[in-house]
Amino acid sequence: MDDLLSRLSENLPPEALITDPDVTVSYSNDMASFCDAGTPAVVVLPRTVEQVQHVMRTATELRVPVVPQGARTGLSGAANASDGCIVLSLVKMDRILEISPVDRIAVVEPGVVNAVLSRAVGEHGLYYPPDPSSWEMCTIGGNIGTASGGLCCVKYGVTAEYVLGLEVVLADGRLLSTGRRTAKGVAGYDLTRLFVGSEGSLGIVVKAVLALRPKPPRQLVLAAEFPSAATACDAVCAIMERGHTPSLLEIMDRTTIRAVNEMAQMGLPDTTEALLLAAFDTPDPGPDLAAVGELCAAAGATQVVPAEDAAESELLLQARRLSLTALEAVKTATMIDDVCVPRSQLAAMLDGTAAIAEKYDLTIGVCAHAGDGNTHPVVCFDHHDPGESARARESFDEIMALGLELGGTITGEHGVGVLKKEWLARELGPVGVELQQGIKKTFDPLGILNPGKLF
Ligand code: LAC
Ligand code: ZN
Repeated sequence: MDDLLSRLSENLPPEALITDPDVTVSYSNDMASFCDAGTPAVVVLPRTVEQVQHVMRTATELRVPVVPQGARTGLSGAANASDGCIVLSLVKMDRILEISPVDRIAVVEPGVVNAVLSRAVGEHGLYYPPDPSSWEMCTIGGNIGTASGGLCCVKYGVTAEYVLGLEVVLADGRLLSTGRRTAKGVAGYDLTRLFVGSEGSLGIVVKAVLALRPKPPRQLVLAAEFPSAATACDAVCAIMERGHTPSLLEIMDRTTIRAVNEMAQMGLPDTTEALLLAAFDTPDPGPDLAAVGELCAAAGATQVVPAEDAAESELLLQARRLSLTALEAVKTATMIDDVCVPRSQLAAMLDGTAAIAEKYDLTIGVCAHAGDGNTHPVVCFDHHDPGESARARESFDEIMALGLELGGTITGEHGVGVLKKEWLARELGPVGVELQQGIKKTFDPLGILNPGKLF
C-alpha cells in the first residue's frame, strides 16, 4: 500500500489522491443495489492524459486492479470498487475541447456531464441525442462505458452511434487512438465500437470525438391512457408499422404512475393501467400527433391528450425521467431489470412480467422505452425480509429468462457489470464467451482493468 501511494504520488499532485477511508468509501459503488463492492486502496482524480498513463503504468508494475468511474449513476455495479483497487475517477477531466458546426462533432474529455454537453452544443444549433434519465449527472465517459441509451433513442439511436473516435489509455499506459473525426471511415477493425459498452474492462477512455446533429425543434408530447399494458403495446406496434418516426415512445404502468405522483405530485392519471407518451420534434408535429392519437384510440386508448405546449411536454418527460427514483421509494429496495425485446414482443414481455409479479407476490413497476422494446421492470421489495428478498432475486432472473425466450437481450442500455454476470454467458453462448475473453486478454493480459465485471 505504501509502495502504491509513493509510486502514484511521484507524478500526481496531492489533491489528485484520496486515501481517507471515510471519503474513499463513498467511491465504492454505483447506483446498483445488491452488487458486491470492495474497498478501494486509493481514489485518484487525474486531470491530464499523462496522469492517467502514470496511474496505469504504476498499476501494471504493481499488479493493482483499476476501476474506472464517472458519476457512478450506473445501474449494474460496473463501477463498483474491488478490494485494494485504485478507483480512477475521471470526473475532473471535464473539458469540452472543441465543438465544430461544420464537421458536426464535439471533442470532449470523459468527465463532461451529458447535460452540460447538450446545452453547450445547443448554443451552436447542434444536438447530442443520447439522453439517459440521469443526464443531469452522468458523464460522457460513463455513457461510453455502458453504451447508454435514453428516451430519444427510438428516433436517434444510442451512444454507440455517436462515438466516432476515442483516445484510450491502455492497461500498460500506452495511448491508443481509434476511429476518426470524419463523416466516414473504414480503416481496419472498428475498435471504437469495441470500447463502447466495454465497461472499463479494455482501457481508460480519455478523449472522445462525438457526432452531432442539427438541433431539432422542441418536441411536442401526446399522452394516451390505456386499459392494459398490452393495448398500449399494440399502439406502439401500430405507430411503428405505419412508418411514423416519433422522437420518443415511452410506457409507464400504473405502479410507476402512482409512484411518480406520490413523489412529485405530478397529477398523472393514476387509475389508468398504462400511459403511453409519444412525441414528435418535427417543424409541424400536428399531423403526426393527430395520426398517432387515432392509432392509440383504435388500439383501445380511453383518453388521448396532446400536451398544450413545449413546457407541458417537458413536464411529462420529467415525470417519465423520475420513474426509477419514484419506484425506488416504494419499498426499501429495488432490482432494476433492463430487458430489451423485439418491439413486436413487447406485449408478451409486459404481460409475462405481470404474471411473474403475481407468481412471486411482488410489486414490479414497469417503465419502458417502448419504441425500442426496452423495458425496465423494477422489482420493489423489503430487503429486511429474507423471503421477499429471495423472491425478488428469483423474479429478476425469471424476467431475464423471459426476455431471452422472446428473442431479446438481458440488457438494452444498463450493461452487465456484476449484476448480470451469470446471465451474459447464457446470452453469448460458449463460443461468444471464449472469443470475448480472448479480446479481454489481448487488451489486458494481467487482468487489472475492472476485474470481476462482465465475465
Ligand atoms: C430510465 C433508466 C432507468 O429509463 O434507464 O429511466
Ligand atoms: Zn432506460
